[in-house]
Amino acid sequence: MQPKENTSRSDAARDIAELSEQIRAHDALYYQKDAPIISDAEYDALRRRLEQLEAAHPDLIKPDSPTQKVGAAPVETFSKVKHSTPMLSLNNAFSEEEVREWDARVRKFLNLQDQERVLYVCEQKIDGLSFSARYESGNLVLGLTRGDGEFGENVTKNLATVLPQSLKGNFPAILEVRGEVYMTHEGFRELNAEREKVGEALFANARNAAAGSLRQLDSKITAQRPLRYFVYGWGELSHDYRMGKYHGSFIADAYNWGFKYVPEYPNKQLVGAFIEDILKYYQKMLNDRDDIKHDIDGLVYKVSDLAWRERLGTVARAPRWAIAHKFPAEQAITTVEGIDIQVGRTGALTPVARLAPVNVGGVVVSNATLHNEDEIARKDIRVGDTVVIQRAGDVIPQVVEVKKDKRPAHSQAYEFPKTCPACGSHAEREEGEVARRCTGGLICPAQRVERLRHFVSRNAMDIEGLGDVIIETLFDKGLLKDPSSIFHLHGLVAEVKAALAQRRRELAEARAKAKGKEYEAKKTKDSDTLIQNLLASIEDKRTVGLARLIYALGIRHIGEETARLLAKHYHNFHDWREAMTNTLQGDGDAAHELEAIDGIGPTVVATLKGFFAEPHNGKLLDVLAKELTIMPYEQSAASGSPVAGKTVVFTGTLPTLGRNEAKAQADALGAKVADAVSKKTDYLVAGEAAGSKLKAAQALGITILNEEEWLKLIGR
Ligand code: IVH
Repeated sequence: MQPKENTSRSDAARDIAELSEQIRAHDALYYQKDAPIISDAEYDALRRRLEQLEAAHPDLIKPDSPTQKVGAAPVETFSKVKHSTPMLSLNNAFSEEEVREWDARVRKFLNLQDQERVLYVCEQKIDGLSFSARYESGNLVLGLTRGDGEFGENVTKNLATVLPQSLKGNFPAILEVRGEVYMTHEGFRELNAEREKVGEALFANARNAAAGSLRQLDSKITAQRPLRYFVYGWGELSHDYRMGKYHGSFIADAYNWGFKYVPEYPNKQLVGAFIEDILKYYQKMLNDRDDIKHDIDGLVYKVSDLAWRERLGTVARAPRWAIAHKFPAEQAITTVEGIDIQVGRTGALTPVARLAPVNVGGVVVSNATLHNEDEIARKDIRVGDTVVIQRAGDVIPQVVEVKKDKRPAHSQAYEFPKTCPACGSHAEREEGEVARRCTGGLICPAQRVERLRHFVSRNAMDIEGLGDVIIETLFDKGLLKDPSSIFHLHGLVAEVKAALAQRRRELAEARAKAKGKEYEAKKTKDSDTLIQNLLASIEDKRTVGLARLIYALGIRHIGEETARLLAKHYHNFHDWREAMTNTLQGDGDAAHELEAIDGIGPTVVATLKGFFAEPHNGKLLDVLAKELTIMPYEQSAASGSPVAGKTVVFTGTLPTLGRNEAKAQADALGAKVADAVSKKTDYLVAGEAAGSKLKAAQALGITILNEEEWLKLIGR
C-alpha cells in the first residue's frame, strides 16, 4: 500500500519508530535465537511498510533504522522448486549401542552371514545448511536449499558465489551434487566482529550465520560472507555417468570435477571401515573436537557399497543405509522459574520447565521438556531448583540433574494436575501409559488448537501462512474451529483482518506496558499483504495427496508411514473412507483387510475405529472432501511394475532374501504387503517352514510362488 498523502508527520514518525522497534525485535529472535515468531512473509510486510513510510518522509530516516543496514534478515521471495529426488534426513544414534543395533539391522536386512561384515564410510556431520546444486553440461543452473525435502528454495545466485560455476574434466551431462554450506569458527567470529562495529544484530552461532547468509535476497551480500561448502552426496545423475561401486568412487569423481569434500579429507577421514573401527574413530574425533575449525555435531556413517545401499533403500524420510552418531549434548546450569503444562493434539499433558534463559552451545534456552509426571517425580524437580540442562542438536532441551544442595528452603514437591489446565476436564492416566490425558476431546480448546497446528504443519498440509499466533488468534475469535474451517476463511476477510489487527494492538499494548509506557491508541496497521499471503497459501494447498491428508488429520498413532500404508492400500479417499466406515459397522471382511495390512497393528485399528466412531469426524471429512481435491496415492517408481496394486504375503524363510528386504522391495514396486492371507491376496511367496498361511492360501486357490519365481516375476 502506498503511504497516504495525508499521513501526518507525527503519525509517520511514531509508526516508523514502532516498526523499527518491531523489526529489530524480530531480527534478534531470528538471528540470536533462531526462533522467529512470525513468518518470513509477515516480516517482509513489516519491512515494506517501513520502507514506504520512510520513502514518503525521507527526513525521518534514522541512521540506525533497519532499512539502513546492509545485512537484513532474509525475506521470502525465493521461489520453490521441486527436488528431482527428495532430500532425505538422517536417523540419529546417541550411543555406541544404538550404532551397533543399526549395524545389526543393516546386516539382517541384507541377509548377511555371521562372518560377513559391512564396510562403512565415516564423515563429519557439519552443522550448516544443506543444498542441492544442479549442473547441466558442466554449468551451475539451479541451486536449492533443502526446504521440506520435497521442495527447496531457489537460491541459485547465492550458491553460485560459494560453489564452482562450471566444472572441469569429464562430468556427466546432468549432475546434481548435495552437500552442506557452513562457516568456520574463524569466519563466524570475523563476521560478527564486523557486524558489531556497525551496530548490526549479531548471529548467535555459525549455523545461523551460514543459514542467514545463504538466504539473502541480494547475492552480493552472500558473496561477502565467509561461506564454505562440502559435497556429501548426489541427486539426479544422467545415464552417461558410469557410477563406481562405492561412495568414495563418486566423491573422488566429484573432487576431479572441482568440488570439495568434507574438510581434511583424506587425512582425517575414514573412507572404509568396519563397525569396531568407526566406533574407535568416533572416540578419536570426540577428543579432537576442539581442534576442528568448524562446528560438527557428530559423525555420519554410511554403507559404502552402492549396490547394498540400493537394496537397503529408505523408510519414511531417512535412508536405512546411513545414521548420524551424535556427539554428547552440551550442558549448562540454570534455575527452574516455573512448571507449565502443555496440552497436545491428542490430549497428553506435557510438563515444561520455564528456565532462566541460558546459553547452551550457542543457543539461548528458556524451556526444557520434563516429559511426564513420572519423570518429574523420579528426578524430584521443583520450582526454584538449580538444574543441569542439556541440548543435543535439534532435540528439545532436557533437565538431566537437580542440584539438590542448592535447593531453596521450604520448597515443595511438584504436584501434577489431575485436571486439564486448558478446559478443566478430568485428566486420566490409562494403565500402562506414561501420559496423563485430558478427557475433554474436542471441547478442549488446547487440543483443538494443537490439531489445527498439526493440520497445517510442514509434513501435513504445509500451509505456510498459518503460523501459531495467527491460528490462536483466529481460533479465539471463532473464525477457525476445526481444520475444515481453514478453507472458509476466504469468505471472512473483513473478520480475519479485524481479528489480526486487534491482536497486534494487544501485543503492542503489552509491550508498552512491559516497558512501563502508556500505550497510545492509533489507527490500525495495514494487514492486506499478510491476509493476501495467507489466503494464497491456503488456496495453494487445496490439492493434496491422500497420504498427506490422512496424516494431517492427526489421528493418534498415525504417523507419516502409517498414513502412507493406508493410502497405498485403499488408493483413493472414497475407498479408504468406505472401508473405515464398514470396519466400524462390524463388516468382518473390511476389518480383516485393515488388520492384514503389513505394518498396521491392533492399536492403529482401534484408534481408527475410535476416530470414525465420532460423528464430528465424519462431518469434518465431508467438508474436506468438498473443499479439497484429494489425489489418489501414486507411487511414481512403481508404474509399469508387474506387481503394482497386487496384494502379496510373505511366509516362511526365503533362501536368499531377508524378510524385511523382500517386503521393502515389494512395497517399492507398488505391491501391497499384507501379513495375513485373504480372498484379496494375489500372491503368497512361501519359503521354508511355511505353515498356516500356506494352508490358507491353498484353500483359497491363491497363486503360490517360491523365492525364485517371485524374483522372476519382478524381473530381478
Ligand atoms: S548425508 C540421505 N552426510 O545432516 C543422506 N548429511 O540430519 C542425507 N549433514 O540434511 C544426508 N553433514 O544437511 C550427510 N556428511 C554428511 C552430513 C550431512 C551434515 C546434514 C545434512 C542433512 C542432515 C540430516
